[in-house]
Amino acid sequence: MPTPRNNIQKMDLTLTEEQLAVRDAARDFAQNVLKPGVIARDTEQRFPTDEVKQLGELGFLGMMVDPKYGGGGMDAVSYVLAMEEISKVDASASVVMSVNNSLVCWGLETYGTEEQKQKYLTPLAKGDVIGAFCLSEPEAGSDATSQRTTAIDMGDHYLLNGTKNWITNGGSASTYLVIAQTDADKGHRGINCLIVEKGMEGFVVGAKEDKLGIRGSDTHTLMFQDVKVPKENRIGEDGFGFKFAMKTLGGGRIGIASQALGIASGAYELALAYSQERTAFGKVISKHQAIAFKLADMATEIQAARLLCLKAANLKDQGKEYALASSMAKLFASKVAMEQTVEAVQIHGGYGFVKEYHVERMMRDAKITQIYEGTSEVQKIVISRTLLKD
Ligand code: CAA
Repeated sequence: MPTPRNNIQKMDLTLTEEQLAVRDAARDFAQNVLKPGVIARDTEQRFPTDEVKQLGELGFLGMMVDPKYGGGGMDAVSYVLAMEEISKVDASASVVMSVNNSLVCWGLETYGTEEQKQKYLTPLAKGDVIGAFCLSEPEAGSDATSQRTTAIDMGDHYLLNGTKNWITNGGSASTYLVIAQTDADKGHRGINCLIVEKGMEGFVVGAKEDKLGIRGSDTHTLMFQDVKVPKENRIGEDGFGFKFAMKTLGGGRIGIASQALGIASGAYELALAYSQERTAFGKVISKHQAIAFKLADMATEIQAARLLCLKAANLKDQGKEYALASSMAKLFASKVAMEQTVEAVQIHGGYGFVKEYHVERMMRDAKITQIYEGTSEVQKIVISRTLLKD
């Protein structure tokens, strides 16, 4: 008769040599290349063009894509580790990385045709160009089935009309995955996803948003006026577009959860270091229980967020269902990011309120992780519906 002890399955949380090497490479890049200009880019709302090019050269823009399409062939756990390290320093650069990897490359690799992969995925995975994922509209944010953008079937092409809002990489991308309604009578089953190229006639990149956080990233309104998109640029079967968006966002949320994790852990590391240098009332402030207990809470919550991110990534790597885990990771990690960056500013006192010390930017950057790729309320819809499913 097997004893419970004999039945224990190995639960191995050890990272492999390869995963550690990816994490270290991302850390080096973040500290040496991203950090020096991050405050200026945030202040000037300047896209990290050169830095993103280097991210591509290092293989960080198509990390999980099959090498035969120019990708790194890495696992999702490595992606979480790299996202955390890049986000610790520059969340504006890491959102470019997240959108390109998990919304654009993953969607194309998983559901695209061989021709679409050759033509669009390969340059995206190599980082020669970057991509954007266009779902949100002025009146369709959380309520994503209410698409007003239309893609009318004209036989050999779709005629695309409408407006997309808050599109990350909106001005810098070359390849856009655009969700649009083809047959309104079919509701969400009449929605398609089309691959649109910058430069197609009638496609206009509109105003750049002036944002609270991730100010180095490039967020635009996009307008489509009678854009002719060839039929072969549709992803999947007719009417697959909404499911495509939902499936893609399931993995995207692992990226944003890891971004939130990185923002929180970056702020924590700065607060930890500062608390061991700054003195008040005759000792370093980390020796005051008020600060020491804050650090204990921060470290514990960040570790819990990290485990949720790794859990979701590990399920994805095993080919198991991961949408519930990715929503949980995003819900929790984004809450941790918001709360712990506020604490990091508090620990820094007056210094925390000025740009030079980085944590005020991290506090501003944290907020978007509770909004994009599904607000925290949307994550609760996904989680509760899964729990309550028959
Ligand atoms: N996988 C596959 N199919 C799914 C799915 C999933 N994970 N989730 C839902 N679906 C399917 C459902 O099965 C259903 O299809 P059937 O009727 O054929 O069964 C269909 O999609 C509609 O589902 P719901 O009835 O659940 O739809 P809903 O209207 O109640 O909305 C929602 C569900 C979860 C709230 C969804 O609208 C949603 O996720 N909204 C948020 C959208 C979002 O995340 N936007 C972010 C924009 S992208 C971005 O931010 C990128 C960036 O730039 C950083």
